Amino acid sequence: MEQLKVLISEEEINQRLDELAREIERDYKDKEILALCILKGSVFFAVELTKRISNPVSYEFMEISSYGDSTESSGVVRITKDVKSSIENKHIIIIEDIIDTGRTLEYLIEHLKAKKLASIKLCTLLNKPERRLVDIDVDYVGFDIPDKFVVGYGLDYAEKYRNLPYIAQMEM
Ligand code: IMP
Ligand code: MG
Repeated sequence: MEQLKVLISEEEINQRLDELAREIERDYKDKEILALCILKGSVFFAVELTKRISNPVSYEFMEISSYGDSTESSGVVRITKDVKSSIENKHIIIIEDIIDTGRTLEYLIEHLKAKKLASIKLCTLLNKPERRLVDIDVDYVGFDIPDKFVVGYGLDYAEKYRNLPYIAQMEM
């Protein structure tokens, strides 16, 4: 059985979400935003964050697989679910749960470059700077965290623990 230790409490997350929402509102004035949520992990974050934003927000979902049921990236990235409607000419904010090596987002951004977007920014709840293997410009970061495997608030270990209302560090 895995051991869990609270790393970021629900209160800390809520406070940070308020700050991020104000930042995004400032940057986008009253422009319409398309939240491009990366399944499944970012859904909890995307919902809680965008509820705090007064701009009109629409949603699209993509699924990108890079991990098996292990805690290490396979390095192989592919799109397993693409967007349903056209995202051209939209102001896109990619919403991710965590940026680790950066490979998933490098692949996604490369894929989106082929489309004519009004703008694209990247927002992640968690960031593990020590683990980065590729250069990625991140516009909005909830929390920088150390090189530890974490679960909760959408993040899973073998599909478990997504529903924890806080971020926990996992010891195996
Ligand atoms: P990257 O391509 O290495 O940046 O990996 C990003 C993906 O790996 C995230 O969307 C997560 O699904 C997964 N991941 C990376 N670190 C963790 C972690 O600490 N806990 C849970 N999932 C993680
Ligand atoms: Mg994931």
